[in-house]
Amino acid sequence: MSSTPDIDDLVAQARQAVAAATTIEEIREVSTAVSGKKSPLAQAGRHLGTLDPEARKALGQRLNAARAAIEQLIEERRAEVGAAELAREMEADRIDLSEFIDGSIPAPARRGHLHLVTQTRDELEDVFVGMGFEVAEGPEIETDWFNFGALNIPPAHPARGMWDTFYLDLGAPESTLLRTHTSPVQVHLMEEAVAGDRLPIHAVMPGRCYRRDTPDARHLAVFHQIEGLVVDEGISFADLAGTIHVFTTAYFGPDIHSRLRPAYFPFTEPSAEFEVTCTICHGEGCRTCSQTGWIELGGCGMVDPAVFTTVGIDPDRWTGFAFGFGIDRCAQMRHQIADMRALIENDIRFLRQF
Ligand code: PHE
Repeated sequence: MSSTPDIDDLVAQARQAVAAATTIEEIREVSTAVSGKKSPLAQAGRHLGTLDPEARKALGQRLNAARAAIEQLIEERRAEVGAAELAREMEADRIDLSEFIDGSIPAPARRGHLHLVTQTRDELEDVFVGMGFEVAEGPEIETDWFNFGALNIPPAHPARGMWDTFYLDLGAPESTLLRTHTSPVQVHLMEEAVAGDRLPIHAVMPGRCYRRDTPDARHLAVFHQIEGLVVDEGISFADLAGTIHVFTTAYFGPDIHSRLRPAYFPFTEPSAEFEVTCTICHGEGCRTCSQTGWIELGGCGMVDPAVFTTVGIDPDRWTGFAFGFGIDRCAQMRHQIADMRALIENDIRFLRQF
């Protein structure tokens, strides 16, 4: 009798060969090799006819069981490999709308946030609201009267040189303009208060301003100011100085020093400029502060009686103070931004820091 093939070995070998197949094509080949006409399994059945009936029946059953087992292995593997192949194909055909043309996947979109200047405006408003001020707003396009005339700056007044103005091609020449400061909102507010009999006034007025300036490390042609106005009985310069002191410590913290310096504005008397220590050089002097160690935040003073008279407020009964300073400058000093132009360049790597 020829050596009885070890049928268990045949099944074990087939199991290995089937498991090693990774494509449908390979499975087809393996299937022929392990269960086809020339397979060791088929060979093992060749001499069945030479066996006596008992032995033939026994071997026949074992061979059938082995073939069934091998065929099941092949079918299982075919299902596995088929599913994997389909998945690969689907992945290859997938249209990924988020892919760049070069095949790279963009980073997931980041959540945006308010621009630093907007955050700063909100924070400044909060500080003043906390001190009892209301928040008001006024138009960015103004007449010469609101931006200058009512503020005690008649046409051709030399002080107009303080504000390089963008005029609009609207109405009489130089009659309409982009406001150069938020001070015209003072005039609107006082007129409205008089008309509605709503004095006293304690308000701040934030907003965009425009000047025909060449941008540099601490100037922008379009910038933001926050104006303050208090009109009440018995208001003195000490109230103004105290307000500025409280605001600078609340917003900048105790480490930044501020100071008032005598100045001139046609609509306040006396007037002052207020400055904070330059946070870029900590007062040493640098390019940002033009080597002075100080950065001017804005102007302030006691409302000039001439302005009160213009808007119909009795200067013998009411006194008041006003201030106006740069919101962008505040952001710049608080966050130590050496060049203010960074605020309008829209470089996401810069904006993301705040
Ligand atoms: N409006 C002035 C400016 O922009 C600042 C200022 C406001 C001065 C209020 C005094 C009072 O230069």
